[in-house]
Amino acid sequence: MTSRPLQATAQAQPNIALVKYWGKRDAALNLPAAGSLSITLDALHTRTRVRFDDALTADYITLDGESDEAQSRKIGAFLDLFRARAGITTRAHVESGNDFPTGAGLASSASGFAALAAATDRALGLHLQSRELSMLARRGSGSAARSIFGGFVEMAAGTRDDGKDAFATPLLDASAWPLKVVVAITSRKRKAVDSRAGMETSQRTSPYYRDWVATVPHDLAAARGAVQARDFGKLAEISEASCLAMHAVMLATRPALIYWNGATVDCIQCIRALRLRGIGVFYTVDAGPQVKAVCLPDDAADVAEALRDVAGVENVLVSGLGEGARIEGDA
Ligand code: DP6
Repeated sequence: MTSRPLQATAQAQPNIALVKYWGKRDAALNLPAAGSLSITLDALHTRTRVRFDDALTADYITLDGESDEAQSRKIGAFLDLFRARAGITTRAHVESGNDFPTGAGLASSASGFAALAAATDRALGLHLQSRELSMLARRGSGSAARSIFGGFVEMAAGTRDDGKDAFATPLLDASAWPLKVVVAITSRKRKAVDSRAGMETSQRTSPYYRDWVATVPHDLAAARGAVQARDFGKLAEISEASCLAMHAVMLATRPALIYWNGATVDCIQCIRALRLRGIGVFYTVDAGPQVKAVCLPDDAADVAEALRDVAGVENVLVSGLGEGARIEGDA
């Protein structure tokens, strides 16, 4: 018998990239082609329970109460990385749930793999450093590497072939610059092309892909400076430019990746109009139709009210910035 605790539950939240990640330098190790910078949210949660059990002959995995073969294979392979470190082959029961729509551009894979990495580490008693946890979370999903940490987070692309320098690090605590994020949900449908497949096609076919990757280091340095200086105007300028450049790459992908719908564009126009009225807000959009409006804390209520009135907006969520992945029951 082992004295290790064989089960644990962890929580993590999605993060929203302000300098985007779109493309890989190595698909097998899931190494990003460029760095990225994100904010971790506090209002949306993934909760994941992992239990290793000698009686199981296969991993048993449910996401929001349902089991899906492709997801189970991916999660099984992810668990293998931890099993290899622990020197065991024991199968696990994983139950994961989100309190927000899965697969609709709200970064459920980020919070999902961050929570799973944290829970598995604890269940197997590995006590990995958060940098290592971030590297492992990256193997599940590049954006998950960032959700290990809270507040403002930077992900390094690294240059090593083994990926040992491709991990996220915290830049600034949420409490040091407590911005708000208003999420306008314009569709609850699952997206047609997931990020991984979309990135791969962009990398292969988009004539703008190389230029996109070349712009990231400059945007990253400027955004990092803006975060350190709490310069909202500068962060707004860089974030919107990074978002639109990524979507330009997507639009020029063959076949085209058009993640936006009409309401997505109307929300963007609404945010631009609010800014002209002096409201502190900027937008960002990921591989889905939802619009995330990042705002100065005092302006969040006005932004939420304006986005609620945009035709096609089904729901509006207001979030603060939150912590990184953590074990339930820990202080
Ligand atoms: C548009 O992290 O989901 O949200 O590493 O292949 O799992 P994989 O991709 P994923 O891609 C996120 C793409 C994005 C931009 C971002 O979060 O930086």
